[in-house]
Amino acid sequence: MNIVVTGGAGYIGSHICKALSQRGYHPICLDTLERGHASSVKWGPLEQGDIRDKHFLDQVFTKYSIEGVIHCAAYAYIEESIQQPLQYYDNNVGGSASLVTAMEKHQIPHLIFSSSCATYGIPEKLPIDETTAQEPINPYGRTKLLTESLIRHSHLRYGILRYFNAAGSDPEGEIGEKHDPETHLIPSMIKTALYNKQPFTIYGTDYPTQDGTAVRDFVHVSDLAKAHVDVLEYLRNENRNLTLNLGSTRGYSIREVHQTLETLLGKKIPYVEKERREGDPPMLIALSEKAQAIIGWNPQYSDLKTILQTALNFELGTKRVILQL
Ligand SMILES: NC(=O)c1ccc[n+]([C@@H]2O[C@H](COP(=O)([O-])OP(=O)(O)OC[C@H]3O[C@@H](n4cnc5c(N)ncnc54)[C@H](O)[C@@H]3O)[C@@H](O)[C@H]2O)c1
Repeated sequence: MNIVVTGGAGYIGSHICKALSQRGYHPICLDTLERGHASSVKWGPLEQGDIRDKHFLDQVFTKYSIEGVIHCAAYAYIEESIQQPLQYYDNNVGGSASLVTAMEKHQIPHLIFSSSCATYGIPEKLPIDETTAQEPINPYGRTKLLTESLIRHSHLRYGILRYFNAAGSDPEGEIGEKHDPETHLIPSMIKTALYNKQPFTIYGTDYPTQDGTAVRDFVHVSDLAKAHVDVLEYLRNENRNLTLNLGSTRGYSIREVHQTLETLLGKKIPYVEKERREGDPPMLIALSEKAQAIIGWNPQYSDLKTILQTALNFELGTKRVILQL
């Protein structure tokens, strides 16, 4: 059964393609490769193109018989969205409108959308459940919230998944996190630790948290990927829409992540402290009881050590055997 994965050459999309393939689906990756990698497309064909291009979508949706779409394609940097908001609205909202329109035209019934905890802004209460008010504090989060609305207004059967901080890499080391530039915390820290590059930066040490640094809920990318297949099967079997938070339900401060990686590697990792970044909330922690109840969400890899070990393994490639991580 063919499932299209937009953004399937990117970090999360490539792990979803692997999870789909492992469960007997045939993933078809749609990606511009602007921010993804052809080398991460290993479980099905790559159709290179832009989801804002209606002719491209018509071609792909005519070429294959498609049961559903998992929609990961987007720009996903908060800081960049503050500098270039219109590009974010164009790609994230415009691209989603183009995709949903083409899906309706070609009568593709199921859509799963990569939404984000960034839609919650600074939540009124913690942990965050799916009914928490959505008040984004940056353009990126706003584009995700607008896309949720446009999907709800469509005629598609949908699953909206609000991920917290995706982290780690495929436990078998086949794919991993390769952003360029790498702004995500864990790979940046690992690159500093392994290659003695620039010290990594801790943004904000005066948040109202236990040690002054921001607190995030890190969820392993392979746990996220599996949830997409479970939600796809829920949509097909139950024929009902679904909106879920996907997090580990445990928050770690940036300093805690730093210290855990130092302990794992047995070495100091240099860092500098800077002002808070605009658009970064102090604390984001998920309540995932709904996902547990409906799709049996039970993350296998989302404890911090496993996240760091799998990320390290991927970065080290063949050298991982030497470190026996
Ligand atoms: N990484 C996280 O922690 C996180 C958290 C919450 C939500 N998300 C969402 O998950 C999705 C995937 O994130 P990621 O970290 O894998 O990002 P990524 O940048 O690695 O992957 C996104 C992919 O989409 C492609 N793409 C972008 N615009 C496109 C377009 N118009 N047409 C076709 N392809 C296009 C890029 O080339 C890239 O391969 C995004 O929608 C992001 O907003 C990510």
